[in-house]
Amino acid sequence: MTKKIFITGIAGFIGFHLALALKHRGGHVVGCDNFNPYYDPELKKERAKLLKTAGIPVFDADIRSLQLSEKPTHFVHLAAQAGVRYSIEHPESYVANNLDGFFHILELCRKDPAMKLIYASSSSVYGLNEKIPFSESDPTDRPASFYGATKKSNELMAHAYHHLFGIPVTGLRFFTVYGPWGRPDMAYFSFTRSILEGKPIPVFHEGKTKRDFTYIDDIVKGAIAAIDLGAECEIFNLGNNHPESVLTLIELIETFTGKKAIKEFLPAPPGDIVTTYADISKAQKLLGFNPEVSLEQGMEQFVKWFVMR
Ligand SMILES: NC(=O)c1ccc[n+]([C@@H]2O[C@H](COP(=O)([O-])OP(=O)(O)OC[C@H]3O[C@@H](n4cnc5c(N)ncnc54)[C@H](O)[C@@H]3O)[C@@H](O)[C@H]2O)c1
Repeated sequence: MTKKIFITGIAGFIGFHLALALKHRGGHVVGCDNFNPYYDPELKKERAKLLKTAGIPVFDADIRSLQLSEKPTHFVHLAAQAGVRYSIEHPESYVANNLDGFFHILELCRKDPAMKLIYASSSSVYGLNEKIPFSESDPTDRPASFYGATKKSNELMAHAYHHLFGIPVTGLRFFTVYGPWGRPDMAYFSFTRSILEGKPIPVFHEGKTKRDFTYIDDIVKGAIAAIDLGAECEIFNLGNNHPESVLTLIELIETFTGKKAIKEFLPAPPGDIVTTYADISKAQKLLGFNPEVSLEQGMEQFVKWFVMR
């Protein structure tokens, strides 16, 4: 049966790339976004324009009032209020978009339990978990941020709806996704901009922070494999399985921009996790997920894109 895929947050970073890849392989793809101003909506509009040019309809709609005129076979739910630090000052946005919004998506699925739900979770659910690499079987009941708490709540809500109504649900715990057309609020993006502009960059925790930076193309392959698997009720880590320090990230940006960074060392902000590191053995086994792009290769692509814009 031909898949009909509906993507929420389609004009976002991951939604945009996923939609193009799904369309490229010949699928029926459509989606919605509310183009909110959390970061420059012009970037979202640019992505949407490219999607429309590729023949992918993009509706300007909020997930909390979304109605489906045509039933998809797969619902890929990516729309959310992202960002760990923003959740300290603006928790209400996470309640509205990540809790209320997710609830509305589950209710849509409940009306048609054959529809498969694939939704974005996050490495943030691991919170204060100190055991690395992070495995899906590790406890995730000590979130370090309100963002992480809402993503963990999504996993619990999805499980309950699966149990009660038989909706097939797959949660994808993404680990620091980066690449061209990325999110301006994320460090790799804002660092590149500041370094090119000769502005200082904040380096938290004496630069000891390590992230399992995962290139967008690898994430898209993992998400497509999860759509194709259509599991009954699963959660997968999608990460690079190769954490790198923020200082390495900065060195790579310096190399590819040819400019020296002005580093401002600061204490770790609240909510921050020192290291993220994905155990991907489950995704390897069930999704054939094998990240291929190193941070060096991926950042070269990102800086090229950034400079060309
Ligand atoms: N990028 C990462 O590193 C990362 C890591 C972990 C988890 N995630 C999760 O993956 C998903 C996609 O992330 P992204 O990086 O593409 O973020 P993004 O902010 O670029 O994309 C999310 C999109 O959803 C839209 N949106 C938000 N609230 C909405 C609402 N109520 N109705 C309709 N649209 C709405 C936004 O306008 C945005 O375009 C999010 O759920 C995020 O929490 C991302």
